[in-house]
Amino acid sequence: MDQLEMKKVAAKAALQYVKPDTIVGVGSGSTVNCFIEALGKIADQIKGAVAASKHSEALLREQGIEVFSANEVSSLDVYIDGADEITPQGYMIKGGGAALTREKIVSSLAKKFICIVDERKQVEVLGSTFALPVEVIPMARSYVARQLVSLGGNPEYRENVITDNGNVILDVYNFKILEPLKMEQTINNIAGVVTNGIFAQRYANVTIVGTPNGAKIIE
Ligand code: 5RP
Repeated sequence: MDQLEMKKVAAKAALQYVKPDTIVGVGSGSTVNCFIEALGKIADQIKGAVAASKHSEALLREQGIEVFSANEVSSLDVYIDGADEITPQGYMIKGGGAALTREKIVSSLAKKFICIVDERKQVEVLGSTFALPVEVIPMARSYVARQLVSLGGNPEYRENVITDNGNVILDVYNFKILEPLKMEQTINNIAGVVTNGIFAQRYANVTIVGTPNGAKIIE
């Protein structure tokens, strides 16, 4: 089974967490694209969705799902999103698709974060396979990069990418994150950082792993 098939397995299994007549928080990325397609099949059973990217917003509308802004809801029952890496504790690196800030905002509104991944995303330590994305106000790019070097990382400017919020991304390579909660706060405290892709404060409550043998659910 290829990676896309495993993503589809996880995405379909996430439907069991969607309650009728609710507004669903929806992240972004290729796994979420599979989830949006599956959600389209039960579009008449939900009130709508809040999306974490303009791209997901457009896909939800294509499926006939009403899209609400984050300002229109006070809380969400569930937020469903993918990840670039996830640990057994539910700590994640996200932002491969540059949507990390909106993902953090929408997931913060939710009672439960359901993370849908294929089995290759599972790691013991964050930073093992994936660079850490950091969204930065453009004028602070060099300053923030120097601070990230002093924290032990190797930041690289993601060329030709502007986020939905008009900012740039630095990807931090060779950066093993042994204390995710602490590092998330430390990086967020650097002036000019909008947010970073460590999701530790808002970790996943449920991980659904797509495998060739079906969906494995870790609660
Ligand atoms: C986007 C994200 C995605 O959830 C993450 O990159 C995983 O993407 P994919 O499902 O395509 O593997 O954080 O900012």
